[in-house]
Amino acid sequence: MKYLTKMSYGKENRMNKIFQKDGKTVMLAIDHGYFMGPVTGMEEPIKATEKLLPHIDSLMLSPGILNSCVPTDFNGGIVLRSSGGSSITQPDITNEIMTLEALEAVKLNASAMALSFYVGTEFEKQTIEALTMAINDAAKLELPVLAVTAVGKALKDKKELRFLGLCSRMAAEFGADIVKTYYCDGFEKIVKSTPKPVVIAGGKKLDSNRDVFELVYSAMQAGAAGVDLGRNVWKNDDPEIMIKVINALVHKNLTADQAEEMFRDLKK
Ligand code: R5P
Repeated sequence: MKYLTKMSYGKENRMNKIFQKDGKTVMLAIDHGYFMGPVTGMEEPIKATEKLLPHIDSLMLSPGILNSCVPTDFNGGIVLRSSGGSSITQPDITNEIMTLEALEAVKLNASAMALSFYVGTEFEKQTIEALTMAINDAAKLELPVLAVTAVGKALKDKKELRFLGLCSRMAAEFGADIVKTYYCDGFEKIVKSTPKPVVIAGGKKLDSNRDVFELVYSAMQAGAAGVDLGRNVWKNDDPEIMIKVINALVHKNLTADQAEEMFRDLKK
């Protein structure tokens, strides 16, 4: 890691479970059920993930899915969803609280906790409170925290640089160790103004594989510390090939053209 201060052994060791020696991570996000239930493609978590686990560096998921669906010999980083409180049945899904304590996360051998905070929403302050409480709680155990940035519907363009830059910097200021946000034009500015590793979420399934490859390539070129993708992997018809190609985009600096070629070769 390129920052000035040194971490404790415990925290750095946990960060090293998530990030490879090149400082990058391929994190697979399968936590969607915490507010969406059995979302298409992730109805059966064991079936949907077993072939993907060997090709990822870390896994982001909820505690209940970890202890019922992930083999105990899984050796990658474990990033545990630790916020929640609303489901898709609610008009506003941003009404979240902290749902998991750091001690429970450590008992599950987590490498990090993950909480969302929602800027530009009625629950901005409440979710910042949950995030910062988690950061304080996790600090006692040298457990890293990943902040999931989210921008409320009220703000005009949820994926605009100024808003994503705002919440990414806020997350770093509060002491989050990893920041997850969306890719946008000018993403390199977010990386520069957020002095913590920034990983990108994918969002809804994109129209083509090429779109996914370009998204990952552009983010990596702009300085992302990796990806935390979900639907664009496990909703794909060939999720295993997809994750292998994404791994090469992150760790082997593949271009989008090379990624397409690799996908075609693996598909044969
Ligand atoms: C939201 O459900 C979670 O924070 C996901 O982990 C995040 O959105 C990444 O998944 P996707 O790439 O499907 O957006």
